Amino acid sequence: QSWYMQSFFELLEFENRKPEDPHALNDFLETLIEIRNRHNDVVPTMAQGVIEYKEKFGFDPFVSSNIQYFLDRFYTNRISFRMLINQHTLLFGNDINPAHPKHIGSIDPNCNVAEVVTDAYETAKMVCEQYYSAAPELKIEEFNAKAPQKPIQAVYVPSHLFHMLFELFKNAMRATNELHEGSKEGLPLIKAKVTLGKEDLSVKISDRGGGVALRKIDRLFNYTYTTAPTPSLGSKRVPLAGFGHGLPISRLYARYFQG
Ligand SMILES: Nc1ncnc2c1ncn2[C@@H]1O[C@H](COP(=O)(O)OP(=O)(O)OP(=O)(O)O)[C@@H](O)[C@H]1O
Ligand SMILES: [Mg+2]
Repeated sequence: QSWYMQSFFELLEFENRKPEDPHALNDFLETLIEIRNRHNDVVPTMAQGVIEYKEKFGFDPFVSSNIQYFLDRFYTNRISFRMLINQHTLLFGNDINPAHPKHIGSIDPNCNVAEVVTDAYETAKMVCEQYYSAAPELKIEEFNAKAPQKPIQAVYVPSHLFHMLFELFKNAMRATNELHEGSKEGLPLIKAKVTLGKEDLSVKISDRGGGVALRKIDRLFNYTYTTAPTPSLGSKRVPLAGFGHGLPISRLYARYFQG
């Protein structure tokens, strides 16, 4: 809570600053960057808090559905804020990003979906290899109904797409390893299918990790639902699973642009 109060007060300082003030824009930029950094760890901190609350007060379906509702709004709000802060700092900041000169802030007008899939896979693979002796391989298929043989592109925020895919890959890798670790045949592939139809673009990730029982499917999008042990906040390793936040937050990112 104190993070939010402090950030709010810091922003209020700008209420009466004049745009003619030559330092105003730059000070605002620096404040935004500080605010962004201050709130970097909101998700694991909040997740830890909800887990502690449940441990102390037990499970109550009414409180639990209120928490779900609150967290959906809270994290959607966080996604919006960070999108706007990033957009501002990228557009008004002085450094141009040499790796992505064509991006408009955080938006890529020609986002190559398969490239983001590969990036997210590679990053998840590095995390996976810290926990298991191997990570499953990836096979990507593209089906472009509009322009066959051409790579599939979209106007999108690559970091959002990356986030969703990274979460799905971590889940798929954990499930695959839990079922097949050490098996003689090795780990079965993870498949990614990127499809562009007449209207929609879809990315499907599938794994051979044994899936989820139909009876439990509804719970997957509940915050804190997890079958992994709770990761410790102080650990230097990036957790592969355990907060039960991966899927519900990915769904918020998808919905943010009506996906
Ligand atoms: N591909 C999958 N195969 C089998 N089970 C899965 C798969 N993806 C998710 N699950 C189940 O759904 C649960 C919730 O997934 P979710 O990504 O929301 O949380 P998590 O992976 O446990 O923790 P984190 O917040 O770190 O992602 C997992 O703990 C797992 O039991
Ligand atoms: Mg997960």
